[in-house]
Amino acid sequence: MMKFKITTYGCQMNENDSEKISGMLKNLGHLPVVDEKEADLVILNTCSVRENANDKFFGHLGYFKRLKETNPKMVLCVCGCMMQQESVIMEVKSRHRHVDIIFGTHNIHEFPQLLDQHLEKEEMIVDVWKDGADIVENLPVDHRYPFKAYVSIMHGCNNFCSYCIVPYTRGRERSRKMESIILEVEALAANGCKEVTLLGQNVNSYGDSLEEPATFSELLTRLANVEGLERIRFMTSHPKDLSDDLIRVIAEEKKVCNHVHLPVQSGSSKVLREMNRKYTKEQYLQLVEKIRKEVPEVAITTDIIIGFPGETEDDFEETLDLMRLCSFDLAFTFLYSTRELTPASQREDQVPDDIKHQRMDRLLEVHHEISRAQNEKYLGKIVEVLVEGLSKNNPDRVSGRTETAKLVNFPGDESMVGQIVKVKITDAKTFSLDGTIIE
Ligand code: SAH
Ligand code: SF4
Ligand code: F3S
Repeated sequence: MMKFKITTYGCQMNENDSEKISGMLKNLGHLPVVDEKEADLVILNTCSVRENANDKFFGHLGYFKRLKETNPKMVLCVCGCMMQQESVIMEVKSRHRHVDIIFGTHNIHEFPQLLDQHLEKEEMIVDVWKDGADIVENLPVDHRYPFKAYVSIMHGCNNFCSYCIVPYTRGRERSRKMESIILEVEALAANGCKEVTLLGQNVNSYGDSLEEPATFSELLTRLANVEGLERIRFMTSHPKDLSDDLIRVIAEEKKVCNHVHLPVQSGSSKVLREMNRKYTKEQYLQLVEKIRKEVPEVAITTDIIIGFPGETEDDFEETLDLMRLCSFDLAFTFLYSTRELTPASQREDQVPDDIKHQRMDRLLEVHHEISRAQNEKYLGKIVEVLVEGLSKNNPDRVSGRTETAKLVNFPGDESMVGQIVKVKITDAKTFSLDGTIIE
């Protein structure tokens, strides 16, 4: 029996992979611990999407080197997107010999065998696959919450946005069979799960890689019939593939949440073309208008990259303009980060850091103003909130989310966690709402 601790960097895909690693280890009788100092098995599940994710990981590796000196028996494993890069493996192998096991995103199901191999041979084990073979079904998943769960519906990405490393670290797009997904969600619901978040890099192209034709809207319609399940979320939607049928399903199926995460990346059609996003500013605006018309209560959130190579002041102002026109409920904003292998990294017209930072400040100012205005629309309204836990700073309050993904804080106690309750909104802040429970 080993005591294990998993640290996860990056997106929900990685979170879900970590839940699978944890599920496998628990099934083998190993015990999760909160404090890595108590652990004799440590797994770092890495992200590579921006340079600072890489830096953070290498910083932590140094910390674990010192920890291993006090606990030489500790087995240190590294996996995830960074390990799909040749250069990272070389660096770990040459400069971080205290790492015991390296595996990748395509073979997490092999981890128990790799661990046995390492314990037997007492040497560094490296096993990383270049691309994903068939999807391995039925791995145990150790869900963090009993009432909400991530469900990966597809793996990989075929879009090759010119800045993005994900297609290189996650391989080609592969969809899971509809029946497997439904079985998983039915089992979750039977165990009391109320909300699922369906995960994929581009959920709108779900089914394209399946032998039996299937679409994302069909999948949603089928899942909406699962008894006991109350909410279905999904991310991420690529604007180029969002169908009218999907908008109809969001509008008609009560369980499908009125929230679309629709990364725009830039408001300049020139930049969008160079990013290989396959839509223009105008097409994006039309899409947002159509969604808002069909689903008036919808929340639209987005991702924006500042300082893509060649981004001029005019391009940036178009992003500000789009930001105002779309009234995003929330925007995740990123400074462009050069990723090896990607076409954009080859460009010579990189934007200087100080300009990137200055543009980011201006973008955030507009963003905060809009988010606050969007939140103020909730004042006096009664909303349904799935309570997720006690508030971080006040044990007499609880926090949870509306179907539009708004964070709501209100007086409550532990017994409400996992319940859907009605809350009247009394105050609106930039990133959250306050309220009082009415039922
Ligand atoms: N598949 C999703 C995004 C996954 S990555 C989609 O296409 O919408 C999450 C976000 O990270 C992206 O939307 C993008 O805004 C950001 N991102 C990806 N590569 C980046 C890079 N090289 N520099 C800065 N941000 C990046
Ligand atoms: Fe990256 Fe584009 Fe694929 Fe999203 S759609 S993961 S941004 S390549
Ligand atoms: Fe990071 Fe990999 Fe997700 S690069 S954002 S963990 S797909």
